[in-house]
Amino acid sequence: MKVIAVAAISLDGMIAFDAERQIETSPQDKAYFEKVTREAGTIITGRRTLDAMKRPLVGRRNVVYTKQEVLLATEPTDQLWYTDEAPKQVLKKLGKQGVKTVAVIGGSEIFTIFRDLTDEWHLTICPQFVGDGVPLCTEYTPEKLGVAAREVWGSGETLVILR
Ligand SMILES: NC(=O)c1ccc[n+]([C@@H]2O[C@H](COP(=O)([O-])OP(=O)(O)OC[C@H]3O[C@@H](n4cnc5c(N)ncnc54)[C@H](OP(=O)(O)O)[C@@H]3O)[C@@H](O)[C@H]2O)c1
Repeated sequence: MKVIAVAAISLDGMIAFDAERQIETSPQDKAYFEKVTREAGTIITGRRTLDAMKRPLVGRRNVVYTKQEVLLATEPTDQLWYTDEAPKQVLKKLGKQGVKTVAVIGGSEIFTIFRDLTDEWHLTICPQFVGDGVPLCTEYTPEKLGVAAREVWGSGETLVILR
């Protein structure tokens, strides 16, 4: 199982201003997000990010973390299931269903709990500072990553793929 984290981050390592307002990105970044998540077929996200997106991503299985009993009690479908299981358990379950790649799309709480299981970080670095916002992760295990690919876009954003 390959775990890819996909995020747009500011120069000061933030992914959003607050729980509702993520940093704005270019159409090129949105197209890249669409491509990576569609190729993966399965995305893992947090309930707050789902709320910010307004609806599950179409054409992809959305695995959504929540602790809310009412959501956890809803019947899982091919498009949407809610979970509060440990990340390793969720990946194991998906693996048994034949899933080969998952895209972890945040937010901060979900990037944090999946950080040590993440094989590849696809980060769009946006040329802006956010200041007091929502960070990519709130805990880190010291680790040095290598740059697998890099693209500079006309928007001023840089995509880096780190392993
Ligand atoms: N720039 C980017 O690439 C990017 C990417 C993703 C999101 N964002 C932005 O980031 C913000 C949201 O990030 P966030 O960190 O506040 O929220 P989040 O990670 O999207 O969601 C947090 C929620 O996930 C659930 N959760 C977390 N850990 C859990 C666990 N161990 N077990 C069960 N449920 C768990 C809880 O849901 P309940 O409260 O329902 O229990 C928690 O409130 C939004 O503004 C969003 O737009 C930006």
